[in-house]
Amino acid sequence: MEVKPELLERWDREHFWHPFTQMKVYREEDNLIFERGEGVYLWDIYGRRYIDAVSSLWCNVHGHNHPKLNRALEEQLKKVAHTTTLGSSNVPAILLARKLVEISPPGLTKVFYSEDGAEAVEIALKMAYHYWRNRGERRKVFVTFSEAYHGDTLGAVSVGGIDLFHGTYRDLLFETLRLPSPYLFCKTASVEDLLSQLEEILREREDVVAVVLESGIQAAAGMLPYPKGLMRGVRELTRRYGTLMIVDEVATGFGRTGSMFYCEQEQITPDFMCLGKGLTGGYLPLAATLTTDEVFEAFLGEFGEAKHFYHGHTYTGNNLACAVALANLEVFEEEQTLSRLAPKIELLRKSLEEFWELDHVGDVRQLGFMAGVELVRDREKGKPFPYGERTGFKVARMCREKGVFLRPLGDVMVLMMPLVIGEAEMEHVLTTLRWAISQL
Ligand SMILES: Cc1ncc(COP(=O)(O)O)c(C=O)c1O
Repeated sequence: MEVKPELLERWDREHFWHPFTQMKVYREEDNLIFERGEGVYLWDIYGRRYIDAVSSLWCNVHGHNHPKLNRALEEQLKKVAHTTTLGSSNVPAILLARKLVEISPPGLTKVFYSEDGAEAVEIALKMAYHYWRNRGERRKVFVTFSEAYHGDTLGAVSVGGIDLFHGTYRDLLFETLRLPSPYLFCKTASVEDLLSQLEEILREREDVVAVVLESGIQAAAGMLPYPKGLMRGVRELTRRYGTLMIVDEVATGFGRTGSMFYCEQEQITPDFMCLGKGLTGGYLPLAATLTTDEVFEAFLGEFGEAKHFYHGHTYTGNNLACAVALANLEVFEEEQTLSRLAPKIELLRKSLEEFWELDHVGDVRQLGFMAGVELVRDREKGKPFPYGERTGFKVARMCREKGVFLRPLGDVMVLMMPLVIGEAEMEHVLTTLRWAISQL
């Protein structure tokens, strides 16, 4: 069906309720409606071209419309689009499970699929809780961190710590024991101090199900990287005090931090590793919760014992999504994505230094190929722009006029370019963003 751009815009305003979007404002503005993509570029319905500098919400890896990923989908589509995995299996889901185990930290041998990052976390929470019950222990409390973000389903919100997103739902959530945000806390204290707080909890409480944390960086809170050694310390303490560790690699997995998973950089194997976003190269919704033999075996028993994990979704392990995820991992090898990323991480680091020259830049943060530039009204006084002024949005809007598509987190300008981006396109993104901030 060919529909005129004006009509698409009207129907978008009339019928489509967008996520994380104030629809009153959205309906008054002229919004981007994308029609096609190629490599790092997207085109809107008027044929205008943009660099996708947010990787379509942090998930695109090798670019849009990648021939190999397209082919994998076409081949799978000729066979079958979807078959259930509740009690049966399918070829690409098996092959992908095998491949994920191969590339993950040693000891993560079991893969449970779902569709989005929030579900991967939700599943880890339920599995961890159920694990203790199957072992005859009733544990019920999770240890979490302020400013954490794990997605928008109620379990994931319960272990989240961003009041703006999560505060409204407090009455519906389960209680957690919350530690401070590592980045903010370690501005004035040491990582050892933070670990001591965790140790105190684990020493006193015998009912801790698991410690839950994002891997390496609190991304949705505005790109707040952890101090080095934090995750290793958490791993040591959870082992020493006999509780579980859930690591959320949804944002960081698949190369974003320079290695396939950030866990590798801290040389740890958590009890659960949650994956999503880049798993399919940004093509289809697919997520996975990886865990150990030890956790898996606690769910084994005779049928009548009813120890199994009563959780699943209609599209769990969807054939098309698994086929494209497999191709995504093959492209990592064929195109040597990670070794080619290293110089771009360095280029990003150098370019980000120049942002400090701008008056309204309050902080610049980077982990691998993920970065955030925080805008403030007054750097000396640490005074932010008023929330209602939408300064980050206005800067993104100026970038859009110059062909760069960004989505800020409040007043933090997020840079999450597809890993495949070329240096010339990176330069364009960075120069444009610097120019836009200088206009404030
Ligand atoms: C660390 C982390 N976990 C979980 C999620 C939720 O993933 P999804 O939006 O696919 O549910 C996100 C999304 O940004 C995330 O950054």
